[in-house]
Amino acid sequence: MTTRRILLTRSAAVIGAASTGLLLPQLVRAQSDKVRVGFMLPYTGTFAQLGVAIENGFRMALNEQGGKLGGREVEFFKVDDESNPAKGIENATRLVQRDKVDVLVGTVHSGVQMGIHKVARESGVLNLIPNAGVHIATRAQCAPNVFRTSFSNSQTTLALGKAMVDRGHKKAVWITWNYAAGDEAFEGFEQGYTAVGGTIVKKLGLPFPNVEFQALLTEIASIKPDAVACFFAGGGAAKFLRDYHAAGLSKTIQLYGSGFLTEGVLEAAGDAANGVLTTLHYSDSLDTPRNKKFRLDYAKTFKLQPDVYAVQGYDTGLLLIKGANAVKGDLANKQPLYAAMRGAVIDSPRGKWRLSPAHNPIQDMYLRKVENKQNKVIGIAQKAVADSGAGCRMG
Ligand code: PHB
Repeated sequence: MTTRRILLTRSAAVIGAASTGLLLPQLVRAQSDKVRVGFMLPYTGTFAQLGVAIENGFRMALNEQGGKLGGREVEFFKVDDESNPAKGIENATRLVQRDKVDVLVGTVHSGVQMGIHKVARESGVLNLIPNAGVHIATRAQCAPNVFRTSFSNSQTTLALGKAMVDRGHKKAVWITWNYAAGDEAFEGFEQGYTAVGGTIVKKLGLPFPNVEFQALLTEIASIKPDAVACFFAGGGAAKFLRDYHAAGLSKTIQLYGSGFLTEGVLEAAGDAANGVLTTLHYSDSLDTPRNKKFRLDYAKTFKLQPDVYAVQGYDTGLLLIKGANAVKGDLANKQPLYAAMRGAVIDSPRGKWRLSPAHNPIQDMYLRKVENKQNKVIGIAQKAVADSGAGCRMG
């Protein structure tokens, strides 16, 4: 019924505008009975688990609505982006042109995101970013059709330095993968740490997704800093935690990181992760009814413990539901769709959040400590952290 009504309204509109050809893409989209959702996520490689958790979380949010979006059935399309930036444009184009998705949900890796971003800006397809924190997507190249439900790369490390200096750790080595996410996580760390009197004595890096950490750990041992701070995630993070511990460093040099370091890897890392301190916009142990219910439902549905990626996927679903409900499932009705999403308050397992004018969440950062295979909250590191959105003009 809804679809037919949309079609009739659109046909009337098209008669007037057909000569310009402007409404044709919307018409083609509206003709499909189902809302077409495309997942472009990593399902192989070091970020494979992250992609799966995001998809699970997203599906869970929709399942809570009877599997529908604004009253319409949903059809899913999937591409494994392999966290490979070289294939980013091609993979995103496939979802937009071949599968004609109404919304592209992706991705995890900041380099791959740049490919999606180009396609989203050129095609106008709605893009929901469920993880990748690359700054430019919600700064100078922000766009009305691009919404991020996760974080910006520097947002998660801004508050880390204060936690370190509070513990007397004033000289640190930084280590990461050399790509946008690592570089931008460093920007946040450097800004926060130096502002409270910390000194970064050395920056170390290796190419993504290499996990040959040995030479770098030897270098850290010889520098003897007060602390090490880092950005790693996924399978590589588990390996880093194990290698850091095996090298004997966890006894002498406190390890810190953005919280991705200890998300989804606590089983794989075992005792090696104990005592690691991180900052992130989520923690397993948040003692709220909202988080507890989410964790229970997710564990029941997927026989897995949720992590920050599952929460981000879930919140991506919640945001889209807000938009879709406002336009009764007609995602081609862009202005009210975007307006509803821009104004939404998301009641998330991480705590309530809303978007900044540049479409990035404004959110609290928690200080967490790994204890017995759990990320325990030990405080709020910083309240209501917003990305600068520098250079964003929505146009
Ligand atoms: C990124 O590439 O932006 C990225 C990847 C994994 C994370 C966080 C950020 O956990």
